[in-house]
Amino acid sequence: MDWTVGKMDAFIIKGKSSLSGEVDIHGAKNSALPILAATLLSGGVCVLENCPELSDVENAIEILKSLGCKVRREADRVIVDSESVSTCRVEPELMHKIRSSIVFMGALIGRTGCAHLSFPGGCELGPRPIDIHINSLKRLGVVIDEKHGHFSCTTPNGVNGVTLNLPFPSVGATENIIMAAVTSQGTTKIHNAAREPEIVDLANFLNRCGANIYGAGEGVITIDGVHQLHGCTHRIIPDRIEAATYMAAAAVTGSTITLNNVISDHIEPVYYVFREAGCSIRTYKNKLLIQSPERLKRVKLIRTLVYPGFPTDAQAPVMAMLTVANGTSMFIETIFQNRYKHVDELIKMGANIKTEERVAVVEGVKSLYGAKVAATDLRSGAALVIAGLAAKGETTVTNVYHIDRGYEQLTENLRKLGADIYRTTIGE
Ligand code: EPZ
Repeated sequence: MDWTVGKMDAFIIKGKSSLSGEVDIHGAKNSALPILAATLLSGGVCVLENCPELSDVENAIEILKSLGCKVRREADRVIVDSESVSTCRVEPELMHKIRSSIVFMGALIGRTGCAHLSFPGGCELGPRPIDIHINSLKRLGVVIDEKHGHFSCTTPNGVNGVTLNLPFPSVGATENIIMAAVTSQGTTKIHNAAREPEIVDLANFLNRCGANIYGAGEGVITIDGVHQLHGCTHRIIPDRIEAATYMAAAAVTGSTITLNNVISDHIEPVYYVFREAGCSIRTYKNKLLIQSPERLKRVKLIRTLVYPGFPTDAQAPVMAMLTVANGTSMFIETIFQNRYKHVDELIKMGANIKTEERVAVVEGVKSLYGAKVAATDLRSGAALVIAGLAAKGETTVTNVYHIDRGYEQLTENLRKLGADIYRTTIGE
């Protein structure tokens, strides 16, 4: 896929759609990204199965190659040979392509003892501070000089295990600490660690490479430093947010669809919302069947929380589906400062939403109407597609490069389910 083309691409959606059939859920973006960085630590050959084809993933692969790794893709398998890492400096233009490139800091420190990289400031979701990352790595013995967003990290006395108490269970900070500590002297304990399934997947990958990490998925993670890691083969977990997105697409169109390749426990945090909205959800092994009513009921309160609470990444897609519910729903976005950028675009389609600070009140309307709207970030873009499926008439979603970051073959999958949606390139 030529990602550069995405800059002027748009999706054209003709609603109202009705969906049916099955969709295969791809590997999790938020697992693939830290695990790709973590392949640096192995010093050998890692085979990552179920690795999604997404622009963020391809950009992470570019960073690995710029560091001296040999990387190739064979369908959904990405093979990384990190035997010869030639530098610990990542070029700024590569770092600025993906927000989550910050996890290369911990991986480079764990592999080479140094890291020179720069970070984009805020992003579409508001400021994205990295104080928890920096303070934690300094406690591990990393010397960090920061000038105008450029960070030079060195470890003159090595990386030494320490007990940390995170002020907030930051996903990225937990990942950076784990990767910096796996080859340290001594033992590191992380109290108030992030518990997301992607953290568990990263720990499982590193343990398969010979690391000693215990307690991932719980509040305290322990890492006993080891001297050397090795390559391994690892299958990346399915993307729980992609699954929630297709569930919202089915719910908003009164459809019944089956999702394949899911881990039901990982999606558990969103079930209560869909059930309160009137959907029935049944799971069997790695399949999920969602049946939706003609019109959804409102959901009184959705508060985004760290795992295992309702995921912030599902907030926008679920808000889109509730814009046409019967009654008023309320959201409280507790994780990010500015994660309601989809609201103005949904209002252009006829939604009735009021926001104040972290609260959004969504008064269900009978129908949305097609309009020209712009994606502002990954999940907001997905929300606009979901709204377009339910809207009367034609919706054009522009800036779909945001969507390409996290959804593999979204238009193809929705077409297979019966949606009238296609990708096109629009003029300057
Ligand atoms: C990860 O981002 C995900 N990205 C995000 O998914 C997800 O929304 C987020 O976790 C929360 O679940 C990847 O995994 C690549 P955080 P991350 O550090 O690590 C504050 C998507 O749509 N914070 O847990 O950046 C921060 O400002 C993306 O797939 C600090 O204050 O999330 C935010 O308010 C979007 N200081 C909150 O914590 C820090 O040092 C959550 O951040 C770090 C974070």
